[in-house]
Amino acid sequence: CGRMVQSDSLIGFEGVPPQLDPAFDSVQVAPGYSARTFFSWGDAVMADAPEWNPDATDDWQAQLKQAGDNHDGMHFFPFSENPDSHGLLVMNHEYVNPPLHPNGMTLVEGRRPLDEVRKEQAAHGVSVIEVKKDAQGQWQRVMPSRYNRRISAMTPMAVSGPLAGNDALKTASDPSGREIIGTINNCSSGFTPWGTYLVCEENWHNYFVNHDPEDMARRVSHKRYGIEGKGMSKLYGWETADPRFDATPDPTQPHGGHVHEPNRFGWVVELDPFDPTSTPVKRTAFGRYCRECSVLSLGDDGRMAFYSGDDTKGEYVYKFVPAGRYVPGADQANRQLLDSGTLYVARFDADGSGEWLALVHGQNGLTAENGFADQAEVLLNARAAGDQVGATPMDRPEWVAVHPHSREVYVTLTNNDNRGVKWPTDKANPRPNNLHGQILRWHEEGADPTATAFTWEVFLLAGEQPGASDADGQPVPAHLTGTINGDIFSSPDGLAFDEAGRLWIETDFGDEEAAMQAMGTNQLLCADPRTREVRRFLVGPRGCEITGITWSPDYRAMWINVQHPELSFPASDGKTRPRASTILITKHDGGVIGT
Ligand code: FEO
Ligand code: CA
Ligand code: CA
Ligand code: CA
Repeated sequence: CGRMVQSDSLIGFEGVPPQLDPAFDSVQVAPGYSARTFFSWGDAVMADAPEWNPDATDDWQAQLKQAGDNHDGMHFFPFSENPDSHGLLVMNHEYVNPPLHPNGMTLVEGRRPLDEVRKEQAAHGVSVIEVKKDAQGQWQRVMPSRYNRRISAMTPMAVSGPLAGNDALKTASDPSGREIIGTINNCSSGFTPWGTYLVCEENWHNYFVNHDPEDMARRVSHKRYGIEGKGMSKLYGWETADPRFDATPDPTQPHGGHVHEPNRFGWVVELDPFDPTSTPVKRTAFGRYCRECSVLSLGDDGRMAFYSGDDTKGEYVYKFVPAGRYVPGADQANRQLLDSGTLYVARFDADGSGEWLALVHGQNGLTAENGFADQAEVLLNARAAGDQVGATPMDRPEWVAVHPHSREVYVTLTNNDNRGVKWPTDKANPRPNNLHGQILRWHEEGADPTATAFTWEVFLLAGEQPGASDADGQPVPAHLTGTINGDIFSSPDGLAFDEAGRLWIETDFGDEEAAMQAMGTNQLLCADPRTREVRRFLVGPRGCEITGITWSPDYRAMWINVQHPELSFPASDGKTRPRASTILITKHDGGVIGT
């Protein structure tokens, strides 16, 4: 590109062009930087894990000890000694791809083979890996490590908060409603000031089926979340091998069999990465929806908010405000903070103001007459509660990022092809057939994370430049042009600030789609929030999504994830099966990433 770098810009690197080669199978990063594969699906995590078999014949017991599939949200937790050179890298494994098995996912006489289902369950969840700089100053994994750990869809978890032990969480397998097996569809994540990781459960509804249409019609906790009503569950048909995922009510079984099993997903799971024997805890005070992320804003006085998107077309933006305050060093007290507080949902008004509407039983119409018997039901059916209080339906809210100095809050609205059809356009979601998405930002009143009033604006509309032409020389239609000041992209998803206030944007679009032809492959970009300038930092292999982002505390190492690559990445030899991978990015001169 050779563009002049402005000295007053936060963005100090030279941009890379969009990658238009349909066979591109690598990662390209800005000049002066290197990117190397750090941690791929199947890599050993536990000390006794077998080495990954390129023919994918590793069984489910092996997979339980190896890296899961489809790396997504991620966070670096430094050790207090040598924080810039030693830490724990913790990441989600969102879902699984067919190359998990030698011949993809199979059906035998209408059923999924149990060994395949077990391997898929083992490849979900979380990896905790210890990482350290070696004598040459290069980041390496530590093997063996007492911290290395895999959490999967088979790991027992505790439940806390208002729904713990509630009838709505009891099943034939867990009559207590207090022990849940596993976590699934862990997309983005979060972390707390007291050093724990927040695993978020996104599209869990795709793993269940309820074959009773009358039950489904009246069961808000299934219907409002899109649980499948016919045939097999939307993703993998696990219920054909593992009855826990068949949520059809069975009156002959205690608690209706597994009808309540879907109520046990959609929560935030708190995990202490520094205690490898700790039991993950599902925190029900956060409410239940298809949660993309749970992102902290910490006030000077220790008051907090955790922001989340519910990534489905026309769903809402939420925040959870703990009742208590974070007190540095008060470890035992801090660990109780996520069990009580207030869940809010956002309304974005046309005049640029906004309001956080409390999802509290007895307030804002959340009453028994309107179908909410108590607070447990409000939290269980948070989407329906959002409907009741008049929240604004958004264009698929994904990640949230909080500016490290101003506490301004940014959210990616990735896209919504149904905008203008099922939902009218509005100021916050202004384009019909919105294929490219937008980023909003808001300012809480008084920069207070717990405020109930805010002002907001569109930060940028993604898409092509106004006046652009398509491959046939025809003008790009208005709904596909945006307001980007700099390098174009579509479908923002991952979003995070570094310490200097650079806004890093990761994309997730279908790179084979006609409307994406000018965009190239999915990418990582950097924006200066003051000037709104955007520059492309990295492009990924064909078919992948770029997601997950974290840094060492000195911001001289950055890790990102290449999810669902389609060709042969990271081997990039044209024959090895593709593997989701964590990529380590450093600057040749050892400097801060982005400068
Ligand atoms: Fe799993 Fe909303 O991305
Ligand atoms: Ca995402
Ligand atoms: Ca996405
Ligand atoms: Ca994804």
